[in-house]
Order: sequence, then structure tokens, then C-alpha cells
Amino acid sequence: MPSHRYQDIYAKIPVLTPDRTWPDRRITAAPLWVPVDLRDGNQALAEPMDPERKRRFFELMVAIGYKEIEVGYPSASQTDFDFVRLLATTDLVPPDVTIVVFTPARPDLIERTIESIQGIRGQVVVHMYAATAPTWRDVVLRRSRDELAAMIQAGAEQVLRLGGESVRFQFSPEVFNLTEPDFILELADQVTKVWDASPERPVILNLPATVEAATPNVYADQIEYMHQNLPRRDGVILSVHPHNDRGTGIACAELAVLAGAQRVEGCIFGNGERTGNVDIATLALNLHAQGVDPMIDFSDIDGIREIVEYCTRMPIHPRHPYVGELVYTAFSGTHQDAIRKGFAIQGDGLWEVPYLPIDPADVGRGYEAVVRVNSQSGKGGIAHVLETSYGVRLSAEQQVAFARHVQRRTDETGREATAPELKALYEEVYGCSN
Ligand code: KIV
Ligand code: ZN
Repeated sequence: MPSHRYQDIYAKIPVLTPDRTWPDRRITAAPLWVPVDLRDGNQALAEPMDPERKRRFFELMVAIGYKEIEVGYPSASQTDFDFVRLLATTDLVPPDVTIVVFTPARPDLIERTIESIQGIRGQVVVHMYAATAPTWRDVVLRRSRDELAAMIQAGAEQVLRLGGESVRFQFSPEVFNLTEPDFILELADQVTKVWDASPERPVILNLPATVEAATPNVYADQIEYMHQNLPRRDGVILSVHPHNDRGTGIACAELAVLAGAQRVEGCIFGNGERTGNVDIATLALNLHAQGVDPMIDFSDIDGIREIVEYCTRMPIHPRHPYVGELVYTAFSGTHQDAIRKGFAIQGDGLWEVPYLPIDPADVGRGYEAVVRVNSQSGKGGIAHVLETSYGVRLSAEQQVAFARHVQRRTDETGREATAPELKALYEEVYGCSN
């Protein structure tokens, strides 16, 4: 592997170590979740969502409890523009839901974005971004720090001028995680001054790990450094936006919340550019599994999954946390035995069933799939399936003997033995009279 072609983050930019407090903290309340499926997620699809899909996804997000939703990039496509117009001219947006529209810091695109929200009754956030990291400045934008700062200043002033009283403001220094911290502080000072950030009308400062580039503790340090040094901190909602290039988007978001982030942007089940945006369903259910109310209703996770799969036209992996088809299923004999014993003593109190981090019923799953039988399974699992599916109770000796029959059969076929197949085999071995 030509690993010498790559450098770690410390060689690229200064990572300033804060007086870190995040390692000793706990998450005790849900941050504000902001789904960006209709913008960032949508930008990553081979076939972007059509109006019907966008609307269905939006209605889903409202129904399960999201209160701030990024709804599109109105200057990028007519579909996005028209969708924002639909929201602006109908009562699809409940009064307690804020919509966010996304724009680059470019005069013509800002103008088009503001045009899209004309007449909207509810709360709107105008989200302006510009790429700030050195490689993007040098290679993509070909602007110096000062030129870029001037462009952002002009964009912020234009948004303020055109946006009006009911609009709130958001700024994202794209590729925050690879940008010099002193430049981020300079830009944060600039935009919070122009937008007059205050606790009454806070500015959202969103700090994306646009391309994940370091271990999650580094992102947490970067966020805590900003949390401790941001100007007008009480007038800022500190937001994070991790992507998942290293497969650690979830860890980045969780550590960032410990480090002071109040708002988390991501996609439900983690669609998004390349390896995806951080999965805000997993984040929410991780909180649930620790006894913290996630403030979003995942009690029908398969219904949510169906709509997300339909809108993105992408299937969800069977091992995907909390929602995958197999994530509440044990095939292995030792796990099945432990689960069976756990179910036998589980009452209404704290959930203590081994190998099941949450009760599948919390997300609308039944218990049928918890134990499935193949050649890796044991007598406990086989007995469990017969008992829960057909009320057939095997004696201790029968469990041992019958498991040998099942083992022989599953070894021969190399396949799973379904509940009806186990029942048929049971009848073959013992006749129908148990
Ligand atoms: O990943 C990203 O940086 C973004 C923006 C917020 C620009 O999607
Ligand atoms: Zn993004």
C-alpha cells in the first residue's frame, strides 16, 4: 500500500488542543437534530428525489418529530426551488417546524434562494456556506484568505439585506475540520457581527467534517476549541455536520456533543456523499439505549425505513444499526441460550436481555426474528423457536436429541431451518403427539 502518499491531520493544519473537558462529560439530553436528507442526502443520489418523493420524505420527518429540517438547495435545481415554493405557499410546515434553505456565498445564488422563500409564514433559516480549507482555497476557489473573507462578508451582508426580519442565519465553513482554527474564528467573528448574533436571534455556526480526516477525538478537540473561543458564544448555536469517510461519523458526532455542540446535522440512516452523512437515526437510538429521550419517534422503524428506501431508491444494509433486518437476530447457539434465559426473567423493569441492546418492540419489531436457526445454533435456540412459534415444549432430553437432528439437517443443506421446517422435522422425528 502506498501509504507514504498520505499525511495525518497534524501535518496539514494546526490542531489546537483545548482545555478539554469532553472526555469527562456525559450526554444527558438530545441535541437539536437537523435532517439534511433533502439537501445533502439528495445531492448524493444518482436519481435526485422528484417532488413526490421530497414531499413524502418531508412529511415523514415532520411526523416523527424533527423541528428543524433542511429542505433543499433552491438555486441548484428547479425541483428544489419549486419544493421550497410549495412549502412557502401551503400549510405543509407546522408552526413549530423551522425550514432551512442552503446557498453558496454567491450574489446570484443568494438572490435566487431568497426568492424561493418569499411569502413564507413560518421560521426560516438561510444557510450560507463557503469552502475554507487551504486545499479548497488554493485548488478550487483560487482565493487568498482575505479574498475569501471578503466574499463571505459580502454574502452575509446580502443575506441580511434581502432576508428580512423573520429569517435566521447559518454559516458553514465547508471542510471546517481541515481549516486553520484562527481563520475559522476570524470568519465566525465576521458573520456573527454582521448578523448581530444574540441569544434572542442566535446565529447557527455549523462546523462540518466535510471529508472525515482524523480520529474522532481530534474532531472533538476542534469543536471544544471553538466552543471555548468563539466570539459571541451566547448568540451562537454550535452545530456539527460529520461525514463518514473513516466510518467514525457517529463517534465524531457523539464526542462533538460532549465537546459543546448543540445541534447535529445528518441523514436518517446515513445517506449522503461518498460514505454518507452521519446517521441521525443511529445517534438518536444510541441515546435511547442509554436512557435519554431522543425526542424523535422511531417506534415504527420499518415504516420509516420503507419511506427512506423508496425516496433514496437505496436499500438499507441488513446489519445497519437498529434498523437492519438482522440486528435483533441471533444465529449462534451461545447467544440464543443467553437471550432465552434473559427473556425468561425479563419483567417490566430495566431491560437486561443479553445481546439485545434495546427491546426490539421499542422500534416496532416482533420477537419472532430474535432467534433463527442454522448449523451454528444450539438446543436452546431450537427449543425457543418451537415454543414461541408453536407452543411445543421439549423436555431436556428431547432438546439434546432433537438438536442433533437439526444439526444434521442444517449441515447437510448449509441453510437456515425456518420455524415451519423445524416443526415439520419435529413431527417427522416424534410424530405429532407431544
Ligand atoms: O459537508 C459539508 O461541508 C456540507 C456543507 C454544510 C457545506 O454539506
Ligand atoms: Zn455535507
